[in-house]
Amino acid sequence: MMKRKKCLAFLPLVFCLTACAGRTMPGQETAAPGEGEKTDESRIAVGFSQVGAESDWRMANTESIRAALSEEAGFDLIYEDAQQKQENQMKAIRNFILQEVDYIVLAPIVENGWETVLQEAKDAGIPVILVDRMAQVDESLYTCWIGSDFEQEGENAGKWLARCLEESGRDKEQIGIVTLQGTKGSSAQVGRTNGFAEVMRGHENWVMLGKEDGNFTQAKGREVMERFLETYEDIDVAICENDNMAFGAVEAIHAAGKSCGPDGEIIVISFDAVQAAFDAMIAGDINAVFECNPLHGPKLAGIIRGLEDGRTVDKIQYMEEAYFDTDMDLKQIREKRLY
Ligand code: AHR
Repeated sequence: MMKRKKCLAFLPLVFCLTACAGRTMPGQETAAPGEGEKTDESRIAVGFSQVGAESDWRMANTESIRAALSEEAGFDLIYEDAQQKQENQMKAIRNFILQEVDYIVLAPIVENGWETVLQEAKDAGIPVILVDRMAQVDESLYTCWIGSDFEQEGENAGKWLARCLEESGRDKEQIGIVTLQGTKGSSAQVGRTNGFAEVMRGHENWVMLGKEDGNFTQAKGREVMERFLETYEDIDVAICENDNMAFGAVEAIHAAGKSCGPDGEIIVISFDAVQAAFDAMIAGDINAVFECNPLHGPKLAGIIRGLEDGRTVDKIQYMEEAYFDTDMDLKQIREKRLY
């Protein structure tokens, strides 16, 4: 595929200062490429609009993509952190179009509202690859998607809870549940909530006491759990739709003088499986974690190379995922965790 000619010179300076880190700026002298290094012109220009830096998972995801789309690997990556705002992602996409990048990579914060801007990318002839979360748009507006089966994760969590309650002889008791939800309208929130609800429908004794948006952050997770603890006396289970909210929930539970984990009063279930979640399971604060694999970089680089070679790529590409609980040899697994 022919590399596009980059038109950076006419972009406003303020945009260039924030968006062009790592790229050659107009008027800047570039060092001659070393042996084996690719020149700026031959590299593949990729604009990546990331959700933000709200969680350990997100940092690992950014790092994986940055490492795979490095200059040494033949890419020119323009990274934009949207600070958890959809409007910032839209601005970033429009600026990528102005810069005539070769590919746009988008991790959409929420599923809705992308038609217009993705149509603009399509009209400009720039392929869009969605990573992590999905966008509810016509399929022709994106080339492919890489991510997790969030609904399956939620369902697995529900099934795990049913087994855990049965094993402890509590399967006929009334079970009070609270859910710390991720960013409302994001695929991770929608999928995990729906998957868990599907299993819950088969257990009449499970009562959902409250659900609240914790925006996938530790601070909000703590706040939401504090409110739940003040409002509901009998919380048996806290479903935390990511690890960072689970860390915040554990803080709130301890601060309220309660206990959690396999030997505690409240069962804590989480999603992601970052290293710190293993530490929390080993410490006895979290019962089970359902993996969400953030290491999209190598798959993404492979897809772009495939497209460059004129190959067709699978539209939907799921990451491989597992789950972990305190019955496992967590110390050994923790030592080998990559994120
Ligand atoms: O979309 C993936 C979710 O977003 C992860 O579970 C969470 O940690 C992140 O912020």
